[in-house]
Amino acid sequence: MTINATRRWLLAAAALLALPLAGVRAAVPERTVLVTGANRGIGLEFVKQYEALGWRVIATTRDPASAKELNTFAGSHANVVVEKLDLLDHAGIDALAQKYAGQPIDVLVNNAGLMQGPDKGQMVGSIDYAEFDRFYRTNAMGPLKVSEAFYPNVKAGKLKVMAALTTGKGKRGIPVPGFTLYKTSKAALDSIQQEIALRWKNQGIKVVTLNPGRVLTHGEPASPGQSTVAVGDSIRGMIGVIDKLTIEQSGQTIQWDGERLE
Ligand SMILES: NC(=O)c1ccc[n+]([C@@H]2O[C@H](COP(=O)([O-])OP(=O)(O)OC[C@H]3O[C@@H](n4cnc5c(N)ncnc54)[C@H](OP(=O)(O)O)[C@@H]3O)[C@@H](O)[C@H]2O)c1
Repeated sequence: MTINATRRWLLAAAALLALPLAGVRAAVPERTVLVTGANRGIGLEFVKQYEALGWRVIATTRDPASAKELNTFAGSHANVVVEKLDLLDHAGIDALAQKYAGQPIDVLVNNAGLMQGPDKGQMVGSIDYAEFDRFYRTNAMGPLKVSEAFYPNVKAGKLKVMAALTTGKGKRGIPVPGFTLYKTSKAALDSIQQEIALRWKNQGIKVVTLNPGRVLTHGEPASPGQSTVAVGDSIRGMIGVIDKLTIEQSGQTIQWDGERLE
């Protein structure tokens, strides 16, 4: 064999060997998202859509053992990992952040939250103050704690987005009496998101509060005259908002379809 023929043979062999390696490299996701409350509803749909986009998904739930649908999905999708995260357990949140120390997270979706009808101590005149405490610790303090704990990961990510799910028209709330604990704890979350935006703008972190629209995640019928949005459309819209977010928009409340809410 001449020197040129040997060289050609070596180059061809190297190209053949590189093919499967290139395939493996392409399969490693370039982006990571962490979703709280990922076992059902809006959270589970975020998991499915980000996975379909080729992302690595850290899907957290307060009780992995009972998260049947999520576990089944993760079992057949290698880029989805299920982790335990309870918004009321700050030590547990810190422990999970420690487990992921040094790993970039591009998008943090603070989705988990408590919702409940007006009949459970949520109407002014018959407020249940123990429930009030639970709502605030879950819907306001919980997401703040998650953002603090995973701040180094988001800072190390490429997209650097911290999103949280709110309700109604931002700080205008839901314009009917009732749902007091829910509405006011979400209004607190809106303010917390603005505070995080101010605090970490100089680190390039983009903070957004998202309104998913009225999504019938519990199989409940729509109220008369209520406009609803399909869960798939809502999440697709919010992923689009997150994707295009600029640092100038940090601190804003934005609806699933891109409308800015005051
Ligand atoms: N659906 C809508 O129309 C609508 C409208 C506006 C805003 N949102 C907001 O969007 C988010 C998701 O809504 P959804 O309809 O999907 O609600 P959902 O079906 O009631 O799901 C709520 C999720 O939050 C989790 N969660 C509750 N307490 C928790 C805790 N202490 N620690 C960790 N996870 C906890 C639940 O876990 P478990 O399964 O263990 O209870 C569940 O995964 C919520 O923040 C909600 O306020 C929804």
